[in-house]
Amino acid sequence: MALRGKHIVLGVTGSIAAYKSALLVRELVKEGAEVRVVMTPSACEFITPLTLATLSGDDVVLDMFPQDRSKGTWHIHLALWADLMLIAPVSANTLAKLAQGMADNALASLALAVRCPLMIAPAMDTDMYVHAATQHNLGVLRNRGVHIIEPESGELASGLTGPGRLPDLPVLMDILHRHFDDTSGTLTGVSLLVTAGPTREAFDPVRYSGNHSSGKMGFAIAGEAACRGARVTLVAGPVHLSAPAGVERIDVVSAQEMYDAVMQHAETQDMFVMSAAVADFTPAEPADSKIKKDSTTDAGLTLRLKRTPDILRTLGERSRNSVLVGFALETDNEHENALRKLKEKHARMIVLNNPLTEGAAFGGDSNIATLLFADGRSEELPLLSKNDLAGVILDRMQVLRTTGG
Ligand code: CTP
Repeated sequence: MALRGKHIVLGVTGSIAAYKSALLVRELVKEGAEVRVVMTPSACEFITPLTLATLSGDDVVLDMFPQDRSKGTWHIHLALWADLMLIAPVSANTLAKLAQGMADNALASLALAVRCPLMIAPAMDTDMYVHAATQHNLGVLRNRGVHIIEPESGELASGLTGPGRLPDLPVLMDILHRHFDDTSGTLTGVSLLVTAGPTREAFDPVRYSGNHSSGKMGFAIAGEAACRGARVTLVAGPVHLSAPAGVERIDVVSAQEMYDAVMQHAETQDMFVMSAAVADFTPAEPADSKIKKDSTTDAGLTLRLKRTPDILRTLGERSRNSVLVGFALETDNEHENALRKLKEKHARMIVLNNPLTEGAAFGGDSNIATLLFADGRSEELPLLSKNDLAGVILDRMQVLRTTGG
């Protein structure tokens, strides 16, 4: 039922997987969605517009400048009409255009004009997919909030084996069902504060100690919560990410600054997610000017460190009524350590992950997590994209909030 009445613009580009778009259109229509198809000129080399027009029940958009001049602003009308624009398959060429914001064909123009979420499913030869340029373009789009459907690994049209296959129809449909699954508005009226990213601890005006946290997990949670209608405050350490739409972002650098920003906003929050990798120690006496080599002995330099305030623990002690969620990054005795943190910091849930596990590395777009709850339950999750994990974390927090568990 999730797709009934939904307006979906399906973009099709020049990839051998374009033939699968016919099956996709047929299935979408069968489930009650209204589908308009837009194709690039290269897509027409792989599948005919007539096929997709017949299956969607409407003309396919091909031209930037339609013969019928009354349709001059077609892309604006279609952009406003759409609830979702899905480009499946998206070729390396169209990916590059999207990343650059180019608008030299009907599909690329429409992708720039839409106000609805944009979802893309890359499908191409493995070498093109893993190429640094393609990966860079994907990173740019991901940071811009575009939903990326990861290609599957397998045998490709070229006979080579590797990532680059468009996922099969059931997988694509499952992703669309989850997208339209009605979570929007479920956090309306709720305030959520999220910490994200690393902190930097200066030991002189030009040097600091830090860590590899990318901030992606916290930004995904903030974005998903905003989509669900929450009032979101995102306290971010130094990261190269743009704030999700509708989120109030407060940039901080050190653990102390992060602590101060969180405490300043804590009173008004219903829920907290502490996903930041906060430094536990900071130089006790940072130098006012750059430390020169000559001022140290041959034996090196000894820095005295002091503890930083623990934000999660302080919140746990102060605000027992809010839903407080922490993260635990552990490389050994994972369960035991995470349970200790859950208890000592009075959290309602801890998201445990090990950055040494495949798929859960620093800076990646996926994670494998186990959720531990204050009542002793635990839930092992499969490998999920950080966006999907954000959704699961918020689902569980919503339950904790309503049941008080
Ligand atoms: N945390 C925090 N303030 C700190 C340190 C950690 O709010 N000064 C939060 C993190 O955001 C995370 C949780 O506490 O949600 C656990 O962080 P982690 O670094 O794994 O644990 P620590 O308690 O610092 O213990 P250790 O580093 O010894 O594992």
